[in-house]
Amino acid sequence: MTATLDSSAPTAIGEIPSFNVTIRLRRYLPETDRGDESYWEEFVVPVHGTDRVLDALHKIKWEQDGSLTFRRSCAHGVCGSDAMRINGRNRLACKTLLKDVNPDKPITVEPIKGLPVIKDLVVDMEPFFASFREIMPFLITTGNQPSGERIQSAEQRERFDDTTKCILCAACTSSCPVFWTDGQYFGPAAIVNAHRFIFDSRDEGAEQRLEILNDKEGVWRCRTTFNCTEACPRGIEVTKAIQEVKRAMITRAF
Ligand code: SF4
Ligand code: F3S
Ligand code: FES
Repeated sequence: MTATLDSSAPTAIGEIPSFNVTIRLRRYLPETDRGDESYWEEFVVPVHGTDRVLDALHKIKWEQDGSLTFRRSCAHGVCGSDAMRINGRNRLACKTLLKDVNPDKPITVEPIKGLPVIKDLVVDMEPFFASFREIMPFLITTGNQPSGERIQSAEQRERFDDTTKCILCAACTSSCPVFWTDGQYFGPAAIVNAHRFIFDSRDEGAEQRLEILNDKEGVWRCRTTFNCTEACPRGIEVTKAIQEVKRAMITRAF
């Protein structure tokens, strides 16, 4: 079944033309007769040219099969809850327009890789957040509490601006081949969030974080594959941030 955008079909003034897309979903429903078997299932969905993959998933769930399970919250690229593999690439379903993923062919939608699947597109994020917690993603300071705000120049703030944009969607970590083969690897998202504090002039925990990431499952496992940078929906230069953390580990300059 293929999608055809029939632009010649008459539409009311202002009406957006609709067309059918085929969504090919990787299903996993362990509490049903299917047991531990995962399988593909196709749904034909009427959509509009401006719809996103998330809209198509909603239509399937609300109109065709209420058992379909996926995470989403904000629907606007902010919360990071709907990362999934769409046509073999990690993306946020709420930021992916159907017209941009070749709707003339079935669009495959699968859970992100490297994390245990709980149901359909929902994976267990706990191993991902465990690594995040380990790098201590909070400001570490010593001495007396300041009586006012901690002053930082625009240049000092700029130093770690890129890595503040992370929304913890796991698109990077779950696209990393090192993480696929070794789930113990901290993964790019944890390193990005370590970077955010290591290069913050107000923070005093850089040495501790670098020590944590100097582990055999830390930054040195990165093979500079760049999958993480390509996958990041926030456009963060993930691989560059990892390289900067590696360099800081050697030079102890941050
Ligand atoms: Fe998602 Fe990018 Fe953060 Fe990775 S670095 S978790 S891809 S926002
Ligand atoms: Fe993995 Fe990114 Fe390094 S994909 S190998 S963490 S550059
Ligand atoms: Fe929040 Fe997509 S639903 S980022």
